[in-house]
Amino acid sequence: MSQVITTSEGEQPEVPANVFAQTVTQVNHYTDRMFSFRITRPASLRFRSGEFVMIGLPGFEKPVFRAYSISSPSWDEELEFFSIKVPDGPLTEHLQKIKPGDTIWMRKKPTGTLVLDALIPGKRLFMLSTGTGIAPFASLIRDPECYEKFDQLILTHTCRLNAELQYGFDTVETTRNDPLVGELVGENLIHFTSTTRDQSALMGRITDLIVNGSLFEALGVDKFDPENDRVMICGSTEMTQDLKTMFEDMGFEEGANSRPASFVIERAFVG
Ligand code: A2P
Repeated sequence: MSQVITTSEGEQPEVPANVFAQTVTQVNHYTDRMFSFRITRPASLRFRSGEFVMIGLPGFEKPVFRAYSISSPSWDEELEFFSIKVPDGPLTEHLQKIKPGDTIWMRKKPTGTLVLDALIPGKRLFMLSTGTGIAPFASLIRDPECYEKFDQLILTHTCRLNAELQYGFDTVETTRNDPLVGELVGENLIHFTSTTRDQSALMGRITDLIVNGSLFEALGVDKFDPENDRVMICGSTEMTQDLKTMFEDMGFEEGANSRPASFVIERAFVG
């Protein structure tokens, strides 16, 4: 049973069997294009850091579900998401208006390829993101297993505007101060940011900053090496495609849950 009929005010639509109905606990609007929200966590939900779930809203004749990376760590008692607001987007047009106390629908099965299981062992883990594509990495950087498996984590976040980088700054600060992972993080997590439309210390698309070497110069680190580096990529369709080509040209191989390799990709959802 998955067909839901719009109900008159006050009535709760029937929850489909494959869906959890959860309550919004917090909403934080960063800009007029991006917001984060937190919901209660179903007691039976297990997920691996970096996975996504399908999120929807109740009360529509044909509920629209979209893929959302879980941005909270797997040990958190709530779930957090970081979302774009698309004008007239079938889901985000409504989702951006949620308030604490509202109900969110979430399909029961988390999945995804931005997981440690899809990568072979390595020394440095690069997490390259644009816009809301930072969400899965916000979960991963708070996973102790990342620090056990890699000597260094390098998170890059590129946005059009300075204000769009704030969610990343907030998350990295929370991570550094966290009683569970803060000590593990220490010097092992590097957070690199750039903007493409606002003035900032380092401007440019991540693709350009890789090609012209500014990324490595700014961080004082070695260039990519397929032997020791593992890479996770999350952003727009064009960004993920451009980086996939770039890494394949450098000798990296795309991995999957069933066949771990040296880099993995997921498109950040839009709509
Ligand atoms: P730009 O401002 O030059 O378009 P969006 O919010 O549209 O998803 O974009 C997020 C960031 O990703 C922006 O800084 C944008 O740069 C950048 N971007 C867009 N397309 C690509 C691409 N093909 N490769 C790398 N970065 C990209």
